[in-house]
Amino acid sequence: MATQPAEKRFSHKKLERNVSLLGFFSLIAVAIGGIVEIAPLFWIDNTIEKVDGMRPYTPLELAGRNIYMREGCYTCHSQMIRPFRDEVERYGHYSLAAESMYDHPFQWGSKRTGPDLARVGGRYSDEWHKAHLIDPRSVVPESIMPGYAFLADRDLEAGDMTRDLTALSRVGVPYTKQDIGKANDDIRAQADPDAGAGDLVTRYPKAQVRDFDGDPARVTEMDALIAYLQMLGTLVDVEKAAPQEQAHVPAVASGASR
Ligand code: HEC
Repeated sequence: MATQPAEKRFSHKKLERNVSLLGFFSLIAVAIGGIVEIAPLFWIDNTIEKVDGMRPYTPLELAGRNIYMREGCYTCHSQMIRPFRDEVERYGHYSLAAESMYDHPFQWGSKRTGPDLARVGGRYSDEWHKAHLIDPRSVVPESIMPGYAFLADRDLEAGDMTRDLTALSRVGVPYTKQDIGKANDDIRAQADPDAGAGDLVTRYPKAQVRDFDGDPARVTEMDALIAYLQMLGTLVDVEKAAPQEQAHVPAVASGASR
């Protein structure tokens, strides 16, 4: 056998035979990889590209979103359209990162028992949503979605929305002092046309102001949830923000969720 060169200098053998040393150097190797990937994100300005039209949720939409989470709608519905042809043709323009920049927590999801809802806003009428939520089979006979009829009976008891807005502003959602101060009044201003919207639409552009559940006497959980569903995907002019190659894709026809 040839004589081995003397192991004076660094030898990989040493590393491989000493578990602590191997662990230490592995950690350094992995950390370098991690830092190279993660660190630039702290300095690159366009980690999330800003797009025109994005604004925080109105208090009513936010209350609807809270109900959406409470009822676990996310266990069957995602809110992220991936940039694949089949998704884009079915659901519309793929989701932009900026469109969920004010979502805490995100509702992206990967479980689709039902269709993606990222762009469901404006696709159906309020009446359709109400009928669908009360009894999905009344509008989509083959639906396996559970009914949520109680939402129409329950008054919206959103609690003190100033606290929701304050919490969100702490994690970077740009609610103004005025938005926070008016949070509880804004709920009624958006859902009760007789209350007068005030400056709601100035502070929240494209906010839809109307009675959503067909019961103008009360503000119910149904009002809040439909207000939320009807605004999903409606804020950003996505074709302008990120022109798509398949610009000729026809708008998804309304109908049974295809
Ligand atoms: C057990 C799974 C399940 C849960 C939970 C669920 N859904 Fe659905 N959802 C479905 C399925 C399946 C469809 C497709 C059939 C239909 O339109 O009813 C659907 C359809 C929808 C649609 C129509 C989407 C479209 O583009 O046609 C909306 C809106 C919707 N769901 C909202 C909700 C909301 C809001 C909740 C929570 C209150 C909820 N869903 C909870 C399964 C579910």
